[in-house]
Amino acid sequence: MGQLLEIDQVRIRFGATEAVRGASLAVDEGEVLGLVGESGSGKSATALAVLRLLGSTARVEGKILWRGGEGGAVDLMQIPAAALRRIRGREIAMIFQEPMTALNPVMTVGRQVAECAAAHANSLTAKEAKRKAIAALEAVAIPDAARRYGDYPHQFSGGQRQRILIAMALINRPRLLIADEPTTALDVTVQAQILALLAQLQREHGLAMLFISHDLAVVGQVAGRMAVMRAGQIVETGAARDLLTHPQHAYTRSLLAAVPTMKTDREKPLAVV
Ligand SMILES: Nc1ncnc2c1ncn2[C@@H]1O[C@H](COP(=O)(O)OP(=O)(O)OP(=O)(O)O)[C@@H](O)[C@H]1O
Ligand SMILES: [Mg+2]
Repeated sequence: MGQLLEIDQVRIRFGATEAVRGASLAVDEGEVLGLVGESGSGKSATALAVLRLLGSTARVEGKILWRGGEGGAVDLMQIPAAALRRIRGREIAMIFQEPMTALNPVMTVGRQVAECAAAHANSLTAKEAKRKAIAALEAVAIPDAARRYGDYPHQFSGGQRQRILIAMALINRPRLLIADEPTTALDVTVQAQILALLAQLQREHGLAMLFISHDLAVVGQVAGRMAVMRAGQIVETGAARDLLTHPQHAYTRSLLAAVPTMKTDREKPLAVV
């Protein structure tokens, strides 16, 4: 399958800080690429650069090629803002770590989901947008979606709010979903449910995913391939299975050593990365 997104030699500077130092990676059609690395390694900065969501203090260099639209590759760093807005949400969607801050607390959940549907389809009537929103909420297993349409974000649990964000991200059937630590704020049981849901939606819709986490165990559950980031550079990429069992790079080994397992000696402190 062909490459959908190609990040080529991207550099990101915030003033004197060089957060990303020539990172390259590619996401193929329909695949889940896991991006792992310790805190501050540049994972979020790289993801935000794809949709030009870094603030004006960021200096970005390199190429970010998108092949998911009609008419060949475009460089997301070069295309006009209006063209990028059409790609954002419709061809490439993003979900973030914190479900509460990403939802508007004073607008009903149903309306927020319906607005996502309407944002990229001018001809959609209010009734059609509502029907589409309810279907999207049902698809992410919000119980009693039609009745809960008029509820506000605080009336849902953390796991349900994350499901709502997934519904919003996927309502326009994007080709690529960028998920930046989508389960980190959730407890382990809810985290497992969300991961299973993402895997199911990915299979059903042939969605490609760039799945970011500092947690290798989580990435190992969803990703076919993995890229390991350290200090702004990709140090290792490969099949997730190989990488988790036979890491080539010392840094990947140290990341793995930091993951507690059933065999970890709990009397000893965790290995320091
Ligand atoms: N808006 C910003 N202004 C200044 N520096 C920033 C900004 N955003 C990120 N950085 C810096 O860039 C580096 C990479 O940050 P980034 O958020 O990409 O890390 P990360 O790998 O996503 O970490 P985490 O796992 O904690 O989310 C860090 O040193 C961070 O302090
Ligand atoms: Mg981050």
